[in-house]
Order: sequence, then structure tokens, then C-alpha cells
Amino acid sequence: MPQVLTFDDPQEVAHAAADRFVEIARAAIDGRGRFSVALSGGSTPKRAYELLAGEDYRDELDWSKVHIFFGDERCVPPDDAESNYRMANEAMLSRLPIPARNIHRVQGVGDASANARLYEDELRTFFNDAAWPRFDLVLLGMGEDGHTASLFPGSSALNELEAWVAANWIEKFNAFRITLTLPAINHAAHIAFLVTGENKADRLAEVLSHESSSEQLPSQLIKPVSGSLEWLIDKAAGVRIAGV
Ligand code: 6PG
Repeated sequence: MPQVLTFDDPQEVAHAAADRFVEIARAAIDGRGRFSVALSGGSTPKRAYELLAGEDYRDELDWSKVHIFFGDERCVPPDDAESNYRMANEAMLSRLPIPARNIHRVQGVGDASANARLYEDELRTFFNDAAWPRFDLVLLGMGEDGHTASLFPGSSALNELEAWVAANWIEKFNAFRITLTLPAINHAAHIAFLVTGENKADRLAEVLSHESSSEQLPSQLIKPVSGSLEWLIDKAAGVRIAGV
């Protein structure tokens, strides 16, 4: 059963996300000497990334033990305004002492399928060829259509149950996106959605309603195999959810 934590506003969600990031990272570093996190793109997590690089959090972790991955990436250069790497780099990565070798960027330029394979190879090396990657933390957002990472409703990657990474054709963007697959996400130790804003309220209520609609929404398919799932939301996003 996912845990839904409601906060007053996006800034409080960002603080809660930064607190959770540090808590999970400390446990992973203490326990296994490293912390692996797949960052979400989009706008919601940016505040949390900025906080983590700020004075309240930057001294809380040994960043040399932190390994940064991406839940998905647009097929653009790393300095493109659409790049999830660029957003995370500007908000956080460039402001913290994370070794360059610990930042596992998805190649966005060139053949999407080849880049998906390259990223999967890097993941398999990092996770010592395990059956599935076990990220210590996967951060996710949710689109108004219920997508997460770059798993969009009706897109082919939703059916990918063997590969860890897929090049996913997104009709409405007339473009490929590179994304972790559902099983690659669902094998994580901790998964946290960050969702804010009234514009997400209807879809969030639908996703959390657990009514298995005819076509399940991608965000409803995020079900950790043996990990935790939390939703960090603000009141505006939770306005349609009873008891929030
Ligand atoms: C991306 C994200 C995507 C995002 C949602 C929500 O590449 O954009 O992976 O899944 O999390 O679209 O985006 P917002 O946080 O901007 O609403």
C-alpha cells in the first residue's frame, strides 16, 4: 500500500523529498558504501535538487559515495533546455562534489535504441549484472495524463518486461524518449513520487483510487517488488483525495 504524505505547498514537498533523499542515502552509504539514485526530470523535483545543493543539506552526505542516474531522458544534447540532465546539473550536480564518474548520464544525441542499450550496459555494470537493478531510490513525477518517467499511456515501453531501459516512441511529441522500464523501476528499494499542483489533482485521485480502469495508467503500474512506495504531494494536488 503506498504511503501518501501531504504537505502545505511545493516548497514543503521539496524539503520532505530532500529529507528522504538524505535519510535513504545515509543508510545506503553506511550499509553498503554507496547510494544509487535515479533522478526524475520535469519541473517538480527541481526545488528539491536545489535544496540538496544548498547550505541546509550539502554537508549532510559524503557525495563521493553518491551515484546519480536518470529515470528517463529526452533525445536532445545535454545542454538543451529540454534535457533532464541539464536541469539536474544546473540545480544540483554542478554545485556538489560528486565525482564526474558517478554521474551516469543518458546519451541523448544519436540513435535512441543504441543509446538505450548503452545506458542499460552502464547500469548492468554498476549493478554487477544482477537480474534487475536495485536503485536505493527512484524519484518520479507524474504527468497530467498519468505518465511517469517516459512511460506514457499506450506507449510500447509499458510492455517491456525484460530490458532495463527502452527507447520509447512518444506519439504526441513525435519523438523518442529513453526511459527505465517498469520492472527496472519496480525493483528499487525506495520509490518516491513528487506531485504538486491542482492541475494534477484529478489524475492523482484516479491513480490512487486503485480502480483498475480498462487501460491502467503508467503511474498505477509503479508497484515495488520488494521496496517502499511513497507519494509526496501538496494539498493542491491532493484536493480530490478523501482524507488528505
Ligand atoms: C520528464 C519526467 C516526467 C515528469 C512528469 C511531471 O522527463 O519530464 O520524467 O515523467 O516527471 O512529466 O513533470 P512536472 O514535474 O514538470 O509536472
